[in-house]
Amino acid sequence: MTDHQLRLGVNIDHVATVRNARGGAYPDPVRAAKLAEEAGADGITAHLREDRRHITDSDIDALMEALTVPLNFEMAATDEMQKIALRHKPHAVCIVPEKREERTTEGGLEVAREENRLAHFIGPLRDAGCRVSIFIAADRKQIDAAHRIGAEVIELHTGAYCDYHAEGRFEDRDRELEALRDMSAYAHSLGLEVHAGHGLTYDSVQPVAAFPEVRELNIGHFLIGEAIFRGLTPAVQEMRRLMDAARG
Ligand code: PXP
Repeated sequence: MTDHQLRLGVNIDHVATVRNARGGAYPDPVRAAKLAEEAGADGITAHLREDRRHITDSDIDALMEALTVPLNFEMAATDEMQKIALRHKPHAVCIVPEKREERTTEGGLEVAREENRLAHFIGPLRDAGCRVSIFIAADRKQIDAAHRIGAEVIELHTGAYCDYHAEGRFEDRDRELEALRDMSAYAHSLGLEVHAGHGLTYDSVQPVAAFPEVRELNIGHFLIGEAIFRGLTPAVQEMRRLMDAARG
């Protein structure tokens, strides 16, 4: 892969959501991950939530065993999750905020408010060789704090941009996009690797994919939904095509 290329991380959490709606073994998120891999995903993302509402501990075991592309392990900054990450030592760990009552990861992490705790928290993960990423809003204060605590990567939260786009609130959408663009460039200038994700669809992916500083997009819910209609392989291939086209 050359330097300008954009990686696609496919988040398979919601295959597990469907499985867990009934209990039992299918649909299997590992099978989805392998298909996504074959369809052009550069990595697989999975979020082990405190309440195990989708991905479970045994899914993480099975993914670590089965994948040939890197696993990006999303987790809250808790002792329990740190122990699990240190046991598996996945390629990447992305620290996300987590509240039990939220349906999804609704905002970015407040790094600035918890700088000391997070600096201590990520130290052992970095020492274990995991590439640590921090999921934050496109906000200079959060980027500066992520940089200070020693994160190598930030992932910018694209949820607000995607919501405004879907609601037809184009002025708000464009303001969000501007902030994402400016903050990608700012983070890159500090030496941080820049990723982005949350809520991206075929309609909203290209303006973000076009930012030259962005190296990876993590996309899940839309792709798993789209797979119902066209199958996972074509769904991932189409996202890959749109990202590559945006990159030129
Ligand atoms: N990146 C991060 C850090 C996330 O928490 C999520 C959702 O789990 C995603 C990307 C993927 O978001 P979506 O499922 O909306 O594409």
